[in-house]
Amino acid sequence: MHKTILIAGAILLLAGPAQASLDLAKAKNCMTCHAIDKKIVGPAYKDIVAKRAAEKGAEAALTAKIKAGSKGEWGQVPMPPNNVTDAEAATLAKWVLSLQ
Ligand code: HEC
Repeated sequence: MHKTILIAGAILLLAGPAQASLDLAKAKNCMTCHAIDKKIVGPAYKDIVAKRAAEKGAEAALTAKIKAGSKGEWGQVPMPPNNVTDAEAATLAKWVLSLQ
């Protein structure tokens, strides 16, 4: 009984931040152009991780791009600047990089 509660608690702790970040991504319209594992208008988050995870300073670079927009990295279509605070951009960059 206690064990079950502990396990359920641990799962909630692990899933909590990821779910909160997904909700933030949805609220900020990221998911209208991006999906986790397929290209829509923008590249799949998993493809971004594959390309960026090994780069030094990837989290800071993606934070800046999420806020200011990006062009010329993935193709012809640019990403416009997004309506996020620095803290939200950092949370989203960290979340994207955690999707492997
Ligand atoms: C209007 C469509 C659109 C929206 C909305 C959008 N993106 Fe993008 N995103 C793109 C496109 C297109 C690219 C590729 C840009 C390029 O080639 O440089 C991209 C690229 C990215 C990259 C990779 C940048 C790189 O250099 O590898 C990340 C990370 C990213 N988006 C995250 C987000 C997040 C987080 C949000 C929500 C705050 C968001 N995007 C909202 C279209 C969008």
